[in-house]
Amino acid sequence: MRIDVFTLFPAMFRGPLDESILKRAQEQGYLQVEIHNIRDYAEGKHRITDEPPYGGGGGMIMKVEPIVRAVESVLGDDLGQIPVILLTPQGRLFNQEVARRLAGYERLALICGRYEGVDERVRQLVVTDEISIGDYVLTGGELPAMVVIDAVTRLIPGVLGARWAPDDDSHATGLLEYPHYTRPSEFRGLRVPDVLLSGDHGRIARWRREQAIRRTWERRPDLLASAPLTDEERAMIARWDAGETSSETDGE
Ligand code: ADE
Repeated sequence: MRIDVFTLFPAMFRGPLDESILKRAQEQGYLQVEIHNIRDYAEGKHRITDEPPYGGGGGMIMKVEPIVRAVESVLGDDLGQIPVILLTPQGRLFNQEVARRLAGYERLALICGRYEGVDERVRQLVVTDEISIGDYVLTGGELPAMVVIDAVTRLIPGVLGARWAPDDDSHATGLLEYPHYTRPSEFRGLRVPDVLLSGDHGRIARWRREQAIRRTWERRPDLLASAPLTDEERAMIARWDAGETSSETDGE
């Protein structure tokens, strides 16, 4: 996948793209990220990229020409064929489903808004989607763009390696993930649940499934309505709602 990023602060991307899985994904050819400085497409001696808003009011607005020129010259004939996503608190909330959808594209473009926002005509001329990473306001779209790149890249087949598939991730199943343990089996009196040491893979799978549902019930009950659950699992939740506790959960 190739991702073109349009930003006024290219240096912000250095750390996150140069470490760990994102770094390896680029080295192995799964991911190509091209960072474009919007200022390079601004005209005049001062290469101005922002101006005060027409109609008054505070703050500065990113100008339309440098952004449109940058996107058009980099995307060329691909403009109109691929998602051009503006990162903005006004966008659609980003989640695992959106990440999965974006991971299906060969190419994406991300525009990082700054200041009070971008001239509205940027939306009309080049933007196809708008994404917000949460209901809070950041200083710009750069960190959100990195969040999107990270979440999408780990879904590209091969990036995590065959043995480390993202299928069980929190949210991938519609549920939060079950608890994990690794060595040692006891630390400061806290023991790893016996079931995980039992070698009984059927029992382990049942325990993990129940734990995932339990965790979701405790922490994100809003997810349960649309989670793919069996009738038996829904009955189990109804018992928890009624105040009963679970033998698998409590006994381990
Ligand atoms: N720019 C500023 N805040 C943002 C947010 N929450 N999501 C996406 N882009 C942003």
